Amino acid sequence: MIIKSIKLNNFRCHETFSFEFKKKTSVIIGKNGSGKTSILEAIYEALRGKSFRATDLDILKRDSDFYRVEVLFFNGEKVVVAFGELEPGVVNKKQFLVGGKKYLRLPKKYRYPIVLFLPDDLHLISSSPTRKRDFFDRILSELDDSYSSILAKYEKALKQRNDLLKQCVEYNIEVVSQMIFSWNLLLSKYGVEIRGKREKLIKEINSRLTKTYHSIAKNDDKILINYEIFGEKIGESEYLKRLENELNRDLILGHTGFGVHRDNYNFLFNNSDADGSASRGEVRSIILALKFIEAEMIYEKTNKKPIILLDDVFSELDETRQKSLTRNFKENQVIITSVEINE
Ligand SMILES: Nc1ncnc2c1ncn2[C@@H]1O[C@H](COP(=O)(O)OP(=O)(O)OP(=O)(O)O)[C@@H](O)[C@H]1O
Ligand SMILES: [Mg+2]
Repeated sequence: MIIKSIKLNNFRCHETFSFEFKKKTSVIIGKNGSGKTSILEAIYEALRGKSFRATDLDILKRDSDFYRVEVLFFNGEKVVVAFGELEPGVVNKKQFLVGGKKYLRLPKKYRYPIVLFLPDDLHLISSSPTRKRDFFDRILSELDDSYSSILAKYEKALKQRNDLLKQCVEYNIEVVSQMIFSWNLLLSKYGVEIRGKREKLIKEINSRLTKTYHSIAKNDDKILINYEIFGEKIGESEYLKRLENELNRDLILGHTGFGVHRDNYNFLFNNSDADGSASRGEVRSIILALKFIEAEMIYEKTNKKPIILLDDVFSELDETRQKSLTRNFKENQVIITSVEINE
């Protein structure tokens, strides 16, 4: 799918706005606060079903009754998103109009893959383990239909176990151990599955990362991501045993100390920790290389060419790196925002 045009009404600062896109690369240039990120947000909402940064009420232009987004594709298909008081006195939940039908949530079959770069992604390398896990979990969910459901089941079991730990702090340990057993079983089963999938993803990314980075940076820096399993790599039964062995400590802490919810990722730049050694432009290039790989892998998996949204991507990149950006994404439609542009 290739986006032909977009029309916005009362979307953030845009009262009425429309834009025609190129089939390959479009660059949206504007001053700070002129509404560039909001345009990407509107595209994301129409193609993925929700904003990447806020709620519908945040998006609704101040003092307006409704907002509307219309995205038209080159093949003639169209998605409309509408929210709020479309007719006097009738306040609507968000609706999607697609394929001639109305939906309250964008059906999966109409969701189209997007690879999104936000300036905030630049903090990834120095961010918390939670944020890094979320980053790779999101990529995995996009590539592997079963991953998000396994992760959701793991998180549910973890929450139940943690709730029990808090409620049972005064109980006899034998009793708690019995009560908690079924959650331990689930955590070890899903935990091992999650680790297997994460490990496979990082192996696949690593096999492409340095080469992809070179296509942007034209040098011979080496990039590697290290998936750091919390504790050590163990099978389901050892995982289960470890949860059982740590029950006493978990009861004191009031939460589960061991598991895949503690795993981490580290970025290595020429064999040292990239956080602290890579420059800002280098960090940006590493993140962009990850985005290229994500786009490639989504295409290989789904046969759909993701639309690439790059928010404020040019700053801090030298000319070589700026130029190689669109060259790397030559197969995809790329929409770039920038505050300025040179040749
Ligand atoms: N609900 C809203 N109603 C009206 N204006 C809003 C609303 N939400 C955000 N804005 C304003 O919309 C403007 C555009 O925001 P946006 O983030 O799209 O700008 P931008 O062009 O990406 O800026 P920058 O170059 O700084 O990233 C901002 O001035 C913001 O304060
Ligand atoms: Mg912006």
